[in-house]
Parts: sequence; C-alpha cells; structure tokens
Amino acid sequence: MDLYEYQGRDVFEKHGLPVLGGGVAATPEEARTIAERLGKSVVVKAQVKVGGRGKAGGVKLAATPDEAFDRANDILGMDIKGHTVHKVMLAETADIADEYYFSYLLDRANRTFLCIASVAGGMEIEQVAHETPDKVVKRPIDATVGVTPEIAREIVTAGQFPAEVADQVADIAVKLWQTFVAEDATLVEVNPLAKTAEGKVLCLDAKVTMDENAGFRHPDHEALEDKSAVDPLEQAAKAKDLNYVKLDGEVGIIGNGAGLVMSTLDVVAYAGEEFGGVKPANFLDIGGGASAEVMANGLEIVLSDPAVKSVFVNVFGGITACDAVANGILQALALLGERGESVTKPLVVRLDGNNAEAGRAILDGANNPLVERVDTMDGAAKRAAELAAVGA
Ligand SMILES: Nc1ncnc2c1ncn2[C@@H]1O[C@H](COP(=O)(O)OP(=O)(O)O)[C@@H](O)[C@H]1O
Ligand SMILES: [Mg+2]
Repeated sequence: MDLYEYQGRDVFEKHGLPVLGGGVAATPEEARTIAERLGKSVVVKAQVKVGGRGKAGGVKLAATPDEAFDRANDILGMDIKGHTVHKVMLAETADIADEYYFSYLLDRANRTFLCIASVAGGMEIEQVAHETPDKVVKRPIDATVGVTPEIAREIVTAGQFPAEVADQVADIAVKLWQTFVAEDATLVEVNPLAKTAEGKVLCLDAKVTMDENAGFRHPDHEALEDKSAVDPLEQAAKAKDLNYVKLDGEVGIIGNGAGLVMSTLDVVAYAGEEFGGVKPANFLDIGGGASAEVMANGLEIVLSDPAVKSVFVNVFGGITACDAVANGILQALALLGERGESVTKPLVVRLDGNNAEAGRAILDGANNPLVERVDTMDGAAKRAAELAAVGA
C-alpha cells in the first residue's frame, strides 16, 4: 500500500525525523485555514500517488493565506499523470540550499534491503543514476544488522555528503531505517532531503510503501488506506477474504490457484477476440480448499459486477476434489437464491483433476439450465466468451 505524502510525513514525524509543519486540505477554504495556522509562507502540494508533481505544476508557493487559497484552488481537481487531485498538503516553506536523495527499499532481485543515497537529489534518482552513476551510493542492508550509527556514517562517507551535514544525514539514516523496520515498509524515500540556507537537513518529501502482508501487526495502517480510491467490488471481496481484482471485461472468472486463474484470464482474452473483443471481468482465486460458502461468496461478488455477462468457473480438483466443487457450485447457486440474489447469468464450468468424472456427473444430474459443462479449458473459455458476447 502506497501512502500519500501527507501520511508519509506524519509517519516520519512519529519516528522523530525532521519534517516541516503541515496539514492536509480538501478545499481552498481549508487550505487557507491551515496556512493561517502555520502563520508563514507555505507550499501547496498536490496529493497524488505519483512522483514528479513539482514538474507537473502540482507544487506551488504561497506567501499569504489568500494565496494559499488561490493555489489550492488551482491544484485541486488537476490531473497529474492520470491521477485527479482531491487533496493538497500545505507545508511550511524551506529555504533550500541543496537537495539530496535518501531511500531504503526491498531489493527483491538480490534478496536484500538496499539503501540508495545521493547528494544529487530533487530530480528522479533513475535519471541521476543514469547520468552521474558515481553520485549514487547503493548499499545492501543486512536485515539482522540494520543501520547502526557506524553503517550510517559509512553511507554518508561513500555518498560524499558535505562535512557540515554529515552528522544530521547519519542521524536521519538511522531513524529512517528504524521507521522502515517499525512500520514494516517496503519503501521509504526522501526526495528531496534538503539542506536549508541555515544548514538544517529536512525531509521535504515522503514516499512510503507499507507491506500489506504485515498489516496484521499494524492495526493503525488500515486507517491509511484510501477507501474512496478502492473499487467497491474489491472492497466487498476483501471483507470476505477473497483474492479478487476487478478488470474491465465481461466474462467473470472464478478459479482455484493463482496460476490457473492467471492463465484463465489469458485464454479468455484470446478466445474473446473471436467474439468482438470480449475480455475477462476480474481475477478471482478462491484457493485450494474452497467450500460451498466460499464459492457462493465468490459467485456473489463476480455476479454483482454489472459488466459481467457470463461466468467461467475453472477448477482443477486437488485436495478439494471435483465432486465437492460441483456440489459447492450447486449449493452456492441455491444459497444465492435464498439470499434473494437469484442467478440469471450463464455459468460455464470446467472441472478437471481429482474426481473430475464424479464432479461432472453431479453437474449433469442437477440439470440446471444456467450451468453448462465444458471439459477443456480452451473450449470452456470460448463458450464463456460466446455467451458474454450474446448477453452483451
Ligand atoms: N516545504 C517546501 N519548501 C520549499 N520547497 C519545497 C518544499 N517541498 C517541496 N519543495 C520543492 O518542490 C520540489 C518538488 O516537491 P516534491 O515534494 O519532491 O514533489 P515531487 O517529487 O512529486 O515532484 C522539491 O524538489 C523542492 O524543490
Ligand atoms: Mg520528490
């Protein structure tokens, strides 16, 4: 989960990192009130989860509360790289003398954590690394050792940070690592880490990504989630512990196992080309030991998507055998009927693997006009695409 800058700023502040006073506003009036409270000139910053806001015109100075109102008015509603600005952050203005870069991140490829630091901050670090690679320090961080004051000092030296800021940057390096660990983040990035004219080092931007797999350790992180930006179906699925991702097609997909579901998306997209470009409507993995209730919950979510015209249930029987899955599907349809959500869209079911024959026989025996059995994955994908095209 990526945080907005204002949330990242608060996280930094909580861990004792040097940030400037600020606040977040959804209206120009609120922006003026915050500027009045801060009592000095401010920067008004678009809150969107993309970088390069400055260049895009989403970071503006305001000398007075009235100017803050005007700048907020300009920036709210702006489109920055496809993201609409719904909030602005106001922060005290820093008199910037120098801009540095500092981050910790999870380096998946090398199975380690990584510190990236540079005295050439402000711009995108990829560009700095490309143009002046000698100005970028990359240092793996051993999770069992972390960033000790000694290691922080080594990073500062390797990065050729000027002597007058060395102590401050080293202190920030340690605290930022503590933040990274304490919050179970996969990224903490400060760009710019700025030196002011008075020689104070400040975190002027905050980019933080939390590891959602560690969410159970951080009940407070849930409040950071931007519910308005989450698809309502995805939200409903999450509440039911389902691995669901909304896509923009017409064929609802339910499968067991992430790999199978991924390849189901591919075959449906491929089959759909023949029927005017019908596409998968979602990803939904109901997992290995799917009970009738999980199947019902899954079907309910998929069917409540108004874009869905047909559903492809693609199950490879394993620990949960196909006969149990077939019964699960029938019970799920009955369950939905009882909930007053009778199914009217056609289902194409492909069962293979453990007890496939028994499962198919159960479906045939039920003789439900909405349920069609097709035994190959390609065949079933084609039929589901065809039904979606007809229903559309
Ligand atoms: N509080 C501030 N005071 C003065 N200048 C700022 C302040 N915050 C940001 N800036 C300037 O605006 C630039 C862009 O802001 P930043 O928060 O880094 O957004 P982004 O990385 O999305 O462009 C910074 O590099 C810095 O020069
Ligand atoms: Mg920045």
